[in-house]
Amino acid sequence: MTTKRVLTGMRTTGSLHLGHYAGALKRWLEIQESNKYENFFLLADIQALTTHADQPELLKKSIRDVTLDWLSVGLDPFRSDVHFVLQSQVPARAELSILFTMMAQYHEVLRNPTLKDELANQKQPSLGFINYPVDQAADIYMVSPVNPSGGDQLLVPVGQDQVAHLEFANRLARKINNKYGNIVLPCDPLVGHVGRLPGVGGGDKMSKSKGNSIDLTDDAETVRRKVMKMYTDPNRISPNMPGDVINNPVFIYHRAFNDDRNQVLELSDLYKVGKVGDVEVKERLAEALNRFLDPIRERRKKFEKVNLRDLLVSGSEAAQKYCLPVTEALREKMFLGYPD
Ligand code: TRP
Repeated sequence: MTTKRVLTGMRTTGSLHLGHYAGALKRWLEIQESNKYENFFLLADIQALTTHADQPELLKKSIRDVTLDWLSVGLDPFRSDVHFVLQSQVPARAELSILFTMMAQYHEVLRNPTLKDELANQKQPSLGFINYPVDQAADIYMVSPVNPSGGDQLLVPVGQDQVAHLEFANRLARKINNKYGNIVLPCDPLVGHVGRLPGVGGGDKMSKSKGNSIDLTDDAETVRRKVMKMYTDPNRISPNMPGDVINNPVFIYHRAFNDDRNQVLELSDLYKVGKVGDVEVKERLAEALNRFLDPIRERRKKFEKVNLRDLLVSGSEAAQKYCLPVTEALREKMFLGYPD
């Protein structure tokens, strides 16, 4: 029997929006539905502290919000092969992370391009912030099979911005294996190719903190109002001018979310020759987004009543169970323990 596991996660820094869906959740759902893997979806609450340590109320609320968002899009931790893991509640992961810090090269971590980019925005980064790539390696390898064999797989679906972290994690895994024998399984990155979804204000990517997101929890009227305010082709000043559909946020959303593919093609053709106005393409988009969000809203209503705590306890216990042997194997190889 080969081991096939998936681990991926999100930091719990606020409830989720359409950008999270297009960039991550859609892929996670496909993987879950493939029925080929045991899936671990991690709520990275410790790593949320790298940027939001001064907003404890937000962090507390976000754990609940993200869990509900995940449930409402259809991730299904009631299946025995799907686990929602709360990072801070897996003690063996924390220990693994500390052991990893002794293997990781300080200068290598500082060279990490994703970290460098983010460091530029932080005036007083914590030590934990710098350590983020190492800690993320512990997230991944906590569910590694110990002494993996051929055919085993540890799949990590992520966005493009996480690639540097996964490459780092794999260099670390190889280093551990070279030094201590075959302990962990280097991960198999699955990098999403979805273009970043622009915010409703165009330009920037969608982000709740910039106030340009359409959230999974928005009601139909809110979605409509946000869509009607969206940017379109800035050069098109009248509805009978030919317009651009490639970089036009309204059409980017149509292509990403409108299940009526014929309508999308038809609207694009008309738009390109100046035969349909912005208002109409927006009306159709608002309808399409609400069609997409309706089942998510329905599920959310149902799950608002379930006990999220029990759900996260059982997912975190599953992760702890897999992590302990990894941590113990490494601890032993590092000769950490009482004297004989
Ligand atoms: N760093 C990831 C992000 O910001 C979230 C994350 C934490 C993660 N731990 C992970 C992703 C482990 C993949 C694997 O999006």
